[in-house]
Amino acid sequence: MALNLKALGKPLGPVSKEYNWKDAVLYALGVGAGFDEIEYTYEKDLKVLPSFSIAAVFNFFPLFSTEANVNLAGILHGEQQLTFHQPIPTEGTLKTSGRLTHFYDKGKDKGALVVGESETWHSNGKKLFTSQLTLFSRLDGGFGGENAPPQTLVMPERAPDFEVADAPGKDQPLLYRLSGDIFQLHVDQEFAVLSGFEKPIMHGLCTHGFACRALIKSLVPGRPEQVRRMDCRFSKPLYPGDPIKTQIWKEDDGRALWRVVNARTGETVIDLGRFEYGDVPEEQIRFDGRVAIVTGAGGGLGRAYALELARRGAQVVVNDLGGARDGAGAGSASPAEAVVAEIEAAGGAAVASFDNVATAEGGAAIVQTAVEAFGTVDIVINNAGILRDKSFVKMTPENWQAVLDVHLSGAYHVTRPAFEVMKARGYGRVVMTTSAAGLYGNFGQTNYSAAKLGLVGLMNTLKLEGARYGIRVNTIAPLAASRLTEDVMPPDLFAKMKPEFVVPLVVFLCSAECAASGQVFNAGMGYFNRAAVVTGRGVQPGDGDRPPDLEAIQAHWDQINDLAGAAEMTDAMAALMDLVAPPPAAGAEAPAAAETPDVAAVFAAMPDAFDPEAAAGVEAVFQYVISGSGGGDWQVAVRDRACKVKPGWAEQPTCTLIIAAPDFLDMITGRLDPMQAFTTGKLKIEGDVMASQLIGKLFRVQP
Ligand code: NAI
Repeated sequence: MALNLKALGKPLGPVSKEYNWKDAVLYALGVGAGFDEIEYTYEKDLKVLPSFSIAAVFNFFPLFSTEANVNLAGILHGEQQLTFHQPIPTEGTLKTSGRLTHFYDKGKDKGALVVGESETWHSNGKKLFTSQLTLFSRLDGGFGGENAPPQTLVMPERAPDFEVADAPGKDQPLLYRLSGDIFQLHVDQEFAVLSGFEKPIMHGLCTHGFACRALIKSLVPGRPEQVRRMDCRFSKPLYPGDPIKTQIWKEDDGRALWRVVNARTGETVIDLGRFEYGDVPEEQIRFDGRVAIVTGAGGGLGRAYALELARRGAQVVVNDLGGARDGAGAGSASPAEAVVAEIEAAGGAAVASFDNVATAEGGAAIVQTAVEAFGTVDIVINNAGILRDKSFVKMTPENWQAVLDVHLSGAYHVTRPAFEVMKARGYGRVVMTTSAAGLYGNFGQTNYSAAKLGLVGLMNTLKLEGARYGIRVNTIAPLAASRLTEDVMPPDLFAKMKPEFVVPLVVFLCSAECAASGQVFNAGMGYFNRAAVVTGRGVQPGDGDRPPDLEAIQAHWDQINDLAGAAEMTDAMAALMDLVAPPPAAGAEAPAAAETPDVAAVFAAMPDAFDPEAAAGVEAVFQYVISGSGGGDWQVAVRDRACKVKPGWAEQPTCTLIIAAPDFLDMITGRLDPMQAFTTGKLKIEGDVMASQLIGKLFRVQP
């Protein structure tokens, strides 16, 4: 058994968990709250302890150990970091997604550290908390990896500013385990002895909850919503019934250090604790920890995007060749450098790149700059551009090609290597820049229009290829005052067209908060709208067996031309299906829409739909990859006439079924025939295609 090093970076989840006030109160009782802290234990004016976060999403964490393939006989919860973005509401559904971020090797007999990161969102649309969890895997060392960076936090030698005594009861784990962690080590005498302990031990996270209460009581009494961060290392086991002391040292600016000591033995059971507290920051979309590339960011719109991204915490590669408006000339470092200086002066982080987007080497070098300076790339705004306007007959091949090279090929050259990094990390945001000239046409700009609409085509396919990796691709058609537009816009209008009016939409498209993909937006002078290619309902003149003649086309011209009831198509296959099975003609009554469940609910219901009789002799693992909004990865394992459904990836699935969320739901509700979904490419099956046919037999409801 060896660690699965290939699992690094692979997206895990989402895992959903519904909870209500009783779960929050049960947890509070499990970590020692009572009448003294009635705000956590009575549903009237209930507040939720921040440490409930980690207990509430406990069902997510086994994904880390399963995916990392750790030896389960030797794992311990090593360290836990929690950052709180919002107070935890008293009820709702939590959705958690994450990935393994590091494997550290302490040596053959010393074990390994497996680090995973996750983010949890509430059904109210807000990100609640980020967790970083370190598993200490005692039996998995010696795989030849790097050791973890040394720990630098030094605990103070002076007496603590606060010391809160508490007494977890002898039966504490029995109550705490009802919040989700039912591992036998905390309840089963025989198992505990086999694991080397005298008797069942306290859950480390239960002691962590006691500490959280003590920290709030000392530093922000009655205000759990002011807890911003809580980190620690679990250092020694604690037996139920042993008294504890939480020692707290106040530092400056809403920060404190803490540890928990066993008051009977004097041993430190939780060490190296950090705690941060203060007012909830104004709700803001942030880019902390994100790395953005903005091409052509030495001036105009690109500069404005780069400044705003950096102001909101992103580390930015400011790329600009620094050439003339028509792309001529040797280029200059100064525009990109000036924008980097502006960002740095405002306290942000940026690095300049002078590479040319129009070549493959230039594109690769820009992405390399991001990786070398900041470790990765999360966001690409393809913005660099030039103009070489000429009426069509005067459009020389050189002018045609130069414009295509910068706009269309430029986006390809930069996005391709960036996409590779994003795919491996399971996250990415790409923005293409089109133009009204491309979407609608503009006299004298055939080269520019062709290149700009080409970018929409590039987006259309990239949105499909990126969907299962969390990569969203959208396109902006800006309108702004810049050197590209100074001579084509009336001067009075030019003054109202600051790039800053375009920025909010573009930067929103770059955020984790934006789930849109494959869409085109116009933005300018503070006005925003969406543009789309739509397909009319059309008409089929004749009987469909013989081609109609020209006269039939002429006779039906109005209906062919009619856009009433026109629809967008998700992909080329959907458009093809539209021809094969056209929608009812305008005016015909549409069938009543059936109620549609969500994807997670379908998987939750799957074990109930399972037919054990039909599963005799079947052993198979079906991996579902559901793309798009509401999607995720689920594995369905059938063995010994039983069915287990879990979020995430199976190690060796019998077959993998890949489908977009709306198509999956249509299939489940009988609106889409599975065979038709397969033959039209809506459902892709990798691995043993024949095995996938068992699914219909194994489940009473077609999954
Ligand atoms: P701009 O000329 O101020 O910015 C473009 C930047 O791209 C320049 O700083 C230039 O040095 C840089 N650049 C040109 N070729 C490059 C290359 N090969 N490699 C790296 N950098 C290069 O123009 P503006 O208006 O800010 O345009 C930004 C984008 O928005 C362009 O793609 C443009 O076509 C598009 N656009 C702008 C509109 C507007 O109203 N300003 C309207 C529609 C589209």
